[in-house]
Amino acid sequence: MHSFVQTIAALALASVVTAQQLCNGHASLCSRSYSNITYLGAHNSYAAVPNSVASNQLVNVTTQLNDGIRLLQNQAHQNNETGSDGVGISLCHTSCDLLDGGTIEEYLTEVVAWLEANPDEVITILWVNSDNLSPSLYATVYESTNLSAYTYSPPTSLTTLSDLPTLSSLIGNNTRVITFMDSNADASIVDYILPEWDFVFETAYDSTDATFPCDLDRPSGGTSDGKLYLVNHYLDTEIISSVLIPDTAALDTTNGYASLQANYEGCYALYSRPPNFVLLDYYSIPTNGSVFSWVAELNGVNYTAPTNGLLGGEAQSENTASGALSWWNQIATEAGESTISSVAAAVVTQTMSTLVGTRNGSSTSTSWGEVGGRGRSGRELGLAGTMSLGVVGVVVGVLVGL
Ligand SMILES: *[C@@H]1O[C@H](CO)[C@@H](O)[C@H](O)[C@H]1NC(C)=O
Ligand SMILES: *[C@@H]1O[C@H](CO)[C@@H](O)[C@H](O)[C@H]1NC(C)=O
Ligand SMILES: *[C@@H]1O[C@H](CO)[C@@H](O)[C@H](O)[C@H]1NC(C)=O
Ligand SMILES: *[C@@H]1O[C@H](CO)[C@@H](O)[C@H](O)[C@H]1NC(C)=O
Ligand SMILES: *[C@@H]1O[C@H](CO)[C@@H](O)[C@H](O)[C@H]1NC(C)=O
Ligand SMILES: *[C@@H]1O[C@H](CO)[C@@H](O)[C@H](O)[C@H]1NC(C)=O
Ligand SMILES: *[C@@H]1O[C@H](CO)[C@@H](O)[C@H](O)[C@H]1NC(C)=O
Ligand SMILES: *[C@@H]1O[C@H](CO)[C@@H](O)[C@H](O)[C@H]1NC(C)=O
Repeated sequence: MHSFVQTIAALALASVVTAQQLCNGHASLCSRSYSNITYLGAHNSYAAVPNSVASNQLVNVTTQLNDGIRLLQNQAHQNNETGSDGVGISLCHTSCDLLDGGTIEEYLTEVVAWLEANPDEVITILWVNSDNLSPSLYATVYESTNLSAYTYSPPTSLTTLSDLPTLSSLIGNNTRVITFMDSNADASIVDYILPEWDFVFETAYDSTDATFPCDLDRPSGGTSDGKLYLVNHYLDTEIISSVLIPDTAALDTTNGYASLQANYEGCYALYSRPPNFVLLDYYSIPTNGSVFSWVAELNGVNYTAPTNGLLGGEAQSENTASGALSWWNQIATEAGESTISSVAAAVVTQTMSTLVGTRNGSSTSTSWGEVGGRGRSGRELGLAGTMSLGVVGVVVGVLVGL
């Protein structure tokens, strides 16, 4: 019996040893530095509330990761709702009254479950720390969810990009999560929450220019030398003066090969290297995975559609592509208007409660939640009844582009 067990163990070991190591799906990526790979990111990864104008994605984070998204960009806000660890930080878009995607604890629990099921994958998390909260609050959640166990802390001597470990080393040490934060990161408080602007620069966000200019936008006055770079490749459209919403009608083009390739080439001309991160809205449109086949080509690997993600045929649920694409048109039709710009005009000439009421067929409806979306917690927003025209304009203005 003993020797049988030993034999089985020896065979198991042999098969482990001979199996080819894959890193983010490809053997050839194992020996490459973390900084020598282009990763696709989900802009506001949590913002996948059905038919909400404040959404940026169609599917939850598990599906995003299954599909091949490897950068999770998230806006975090102080909130009264706390996780079981007592920390009140939620994933909201501009305001938790507008789109409340739940606590970061719920979200990170989902991410950890995925990491445990996918031991050969390296991911990046980028926090927009909207309320300048202390990194120690985030660390409490990293610890309560056990994400801290998987998160990489660089040696203090880390100075250049080429010193970043290879994927194989990150996987070998099981430190497969790199975390950046845009404000208030402090290595003396939490060493694994890296100050974004020490390591990364970005091109402009909220672009309404489909050529996506590559100039360094943030950190203001910063340099590209020795830094990773992130290209914000999501297009907004201005429906009325300074009111930006994702240009969902252009997604087939924006997320198509030609637009991504042209953006990459433009940036290559400036920086002589490809971007490390490309951030997308509604990455799953078009549904044929064009964004992933593009990035595979850039990384010199072959794209294989996953079997378990959205792109592997998983249903899109009620939050469909057509739902996102037609949101404004639907409102337009139901409000008796014909185009997006006439809806915009309606927004400034009617109260939101009238629009909401029209949308759901009840002139007395006062639930902004019907239009603005509600969080995972199912919280009704209930603002419409008292909303003045000015508030509607401000709310619509601030929510959509950021
Ligand atoms: C990775 O290195 C190879 C070889 O030098 C280079 O061709 C490629 O552009 C690099 N990719 C990134 C994202 O730096
Ligand atoms: C994520 O979405 C998929 C597809 O709709 C669903 O099957 C899965 O249960 C969701 N996961 C979580 C944790 O909600
Ligand atoms: C959050 O808590 C503060 C302090 O208790 C309170 O003043 C505020 O109204 C609460 N906000 C919400 C949205 O519940
Ligand atoms: C946390 O993750 C590490 C690394 O996989 C594991 O060794 C440890 O058991 C986990 N702890 C908990 C409480 O799940
Ligand atoms: C752990 O990381 C160190 C430093 O990057 C590296 O030298 C070592 O090979 C890694 N260990 C494994 C098992 O990959
Ligand atoms: C993916 O779909 C888009 C939109 O329908 C189309 O333009 C593109 O050619 C398709 N790409 C591939 C690789 O099939
Ligand atoms: C990609 O697939 C082609 C055709 O199957 C094959 O010839 C090539 O070697 C593959 N490239 C890589 C990097 O695996
Ligand atoms: C319209 O909204 C009101 C208030 O939220 C709700 O009670 C009602 O069920 C909705 N009607 C439809 C048809 O969805």
